[in-house]
Amino acid sequence: MHSLPTIISPSLLSADFARLAEDIERVEAAGADWLHVDVMDAHFVPNLTIGPPVVKSIFGAAKVPLDVHLMITDPARYAEDFAKAGAHVLTFHREVCEQASDVRETIRHFRDVGVKQVGIAVNPATPIDTVADFLDSVDLVLVMSVVPGFGGQSFMPEVLEKVTWLRDSGFQGSVEMDGGLNYETLPLCAAAGANCLVAGSAIFGADDIPKTIRDFRRLGEAALAERAPREVS
Ligand code: DX5
Ligand code: ZN
Repeated sequence: MHSLPTIISPSLLSADFARLAEDIERVEAAGADWLHVDVMDAHFVPNLTIGPPVVKSIFGAAKVPLDVHLMITDPARYAEDFAKAGAHVLTFHREVCEQASDVRETIRHFRDVGVKQVGIAVNPATPIDTVADFLDSVDLVLVMSVVPGFGGQSFMPEVLEKVTWLRDSGFQGSVEMDGGLNYETLPLCAAAGANCLVAGSAIFGADDIPKTIRDFRRLGEAALAERAPREVS
């Protein structure tokens, strides 16, 4: 198989929303591959952030793809709006679908409205085998390493085995981790097999953002390569 690129996706939740364009420019100049955009509805999670109009404005200011993480109860209802607003990756949560048929329907709908990369996310409390039947129809699995809702929380190491499970199952798409990633925890994520690495407070709170992104990429690439030397090249 081809080795997956390591992708560093700064979470804009930790940016200054009054100076979003400047903060976007700052992390892009520093080497960000994607911009992680957290959408919360005050229902699926106890916090409220932004919707399609703001995503559209972010898209207008951004040069790199938008990695949009929907923490909302009814993702299918809004998928087209987010796709039109410029979401490149659009990820919904497994927990919002009761039946397997709802998951399939949501994925199909995301494709129908033109989503380029479809992602499915699992909360720390959700067993990873709840996504087993959909691995052939998604581009990305997001393994949450905090309970979603807020930036700046502590990494939950017990979720790492989900990433190992995904790779052991033969999943060759992107595995993303989100929540509490920093110099100590990011290498653990990559060593388990994650190639898309989201960080909010560790990037926007850094004294030297370019160095932090450079270091995160180097640490991520090294740990991922060490984990699976057969998969490289
Ligand atoms: C949490 C969000 C994350 C968050 C990560 O609900 O999905 O994307 O912004 O922030 P840090 O990296 O600070 O944990
Ligand atoms: Zn997120």
